[in-house]
Amino acid sequence: MRAPDLLGRRLLFFTGKGGVGKSTVAAATALLAADHGRRVLVVEVDAKGSIAERFEADAVGFTPREVHPGVFVLSMDTEASLKEYLKLNLRVPIVGRIGPLGKALEFVATAAPGVKEVLTIGKVCWEVRESIEGRADWDLVVVDAAATGHVIAQLGAPDAIREMVSVGPVRAQTEWMTDLLVDPAVTALNVVATPEEMPVAETIELVERAREELDVPFGAVIVNRVLPELFTHADEAAFEAFHEPAPEAVLREAAGAGVSAVLDGARLAVSLRRTRAVHLSWLRESVDLPMLYVPYLFSRSHGLRETRMVAEALGEELGL
Ligand SMILES: Nc1ncnc2c1ncn2[C@@H]1O[C@H](COP(=O)(O)OP(=O)(O)OP(=O)(O)O)[C@@H](O)[C@H]1O
Ligand SMILES: [Mg+2]
Repeated sequence: MRAPDLLGRRLLFFTGKGGVGKSTVAAATALLAADHGRRVLVVEVDAKGSIAERFEADAVGFTPREVHPGVFVLSMDTEASLKEYLKLNLRVPIVGRIGPLGKALEFVATAAPGVKEVLTIGKVCWEVRESIEGRADWDLVVVDAAATGHVIAQLGAPDAIREMVSVGPVRAQTEWMTDLLVDPAVTALNVVATPEEMPVAETIELVERAREELDVPFGAVIVNRVLPELFTHADEAAFEAFHEPAPEAVLREAAGAGVSAVLDGARLAVSLRRTRAVHLSWLRESVDLPMLYVPYLFSRSHGLRETRMVAEALGEELGL
């Protein structure tokens, strides 16, 4: 399947099971786009501060800050989005911490289904619309989105709200969001997975559900933490042979007791790769989307250097 033109869109969502690498891939995509001359805004939805960390910058808040040349980050939280919503749409001036009106609205936002989600998605769509209409300077908005369990509610929020309130300003205030979200020239929903059973199962389920419940176009599945093929069949045959009692005794004699551990390590690497290959083929057979592969990085830190390595891998996969 041909590599998708991800950098040609204006709005990229990255979702996936918890811990699979959504933030890593979102940050790397932003870096790749910036390297290709784009001005990028990364919106961090769950506000964990992971994006700034991946550029080795200090944590950011609701106001976008440049963390790397061409890469700006903002972290969402509901109170700040409520304030901005009130300021922009209801023209209620708000100074300092949110007052009683805001408290009431925050209560509504927490209680009514879809309200919190629409504030989040509304902020994202608003930044995109501002840039399309020339009032903001983003070429691309990258969203480090909610995990698979929650992303459908988030992307479907404008529709859900419209179903509840089908008249008046609410309709107008959410319809433009849906228009942006379903436009394949603007938006792509990307799913990050790892070659493991649960992330693959969640990816398959998410793609099915999103197709049933949303009209948001898909971009790619990013398969993260793919293990390198370390050994050939001949190598495997060799260390299987070493594992026979006689050769192993000779090896231990020559190289010490560590020989057994090294052989076990080699076998483990092969079997890990095999089981991951099984999950990977299950994913490939079940999901008809372009797949981009990112190798497992054998690194203890996750700073700019690692972000760059993932960006390079993605660039190669995208043919850039
Ligand atoms: N290709 C890779 N190779 C090795 N480690 C990786 C790779 N990609 C991500 N990681 C590591 O895996 C961990 C989880 O990654 P990340 O925080 O990006 O996942 P996430 O999906 O955003 O998690 P959460 O659901 O908690 O937001 C991090 O420690 C990260 O450094
Ligand atoms: Mg994350």
